[in-house]
Amino acid sequence: MKALLPIALLFATGAAAAGYRLPDERPITLLPGPDVELTAATCSACHSLDYVTSQPRGKGAQFWNDSVTKMVKVYGAPIEPADAARIAAYLAATYGQ
Ligand code: HEC
Repeated sequence: MKALLPIALLFATGAAAAGYRLPDERPITLLPGPDVELTAATCSACHSLDYVTSQPRGKGAQFWNDSVTKMVKVYGAPIEPADAARIAAYLAATYGQ
């Protein structure tokens, strides 16, 4: 019985020392602009909006046009061409420069 005490203490101190704290869950909000709601709703259907906000800036309109097209053509995102154009324009104006 005596031998169990140190083991019990080891577990107790181990658990206390770990002190798990989950990172804060902050919802990602997109920069304001025309069609921001359309973009947020459309582009968060499959993945986090992090994929949008973490792209390097300054890549221009072509990059965002291509990105939206890729989501549709490669990953099958159900986005109407008119919406795709509006989203690409919003992204170019906000995250493209
Ligand atoms: C049908 C699901 C779907 C939708 C809707 C979607 N994506 Fe994606 N997206 C993906 C997948 C799958 C990946 C690749 C995931 C990976 O590599 O981890 C991806 C990756 C990305 C990337 C990372 C770079 C790359 O090309 O892999 C960006 C940027 C991106 N998406 C932007 C967008 C934008 C902007 C929208 C809104 C127009 C959007 N996504 C909507 C499925 C989607």
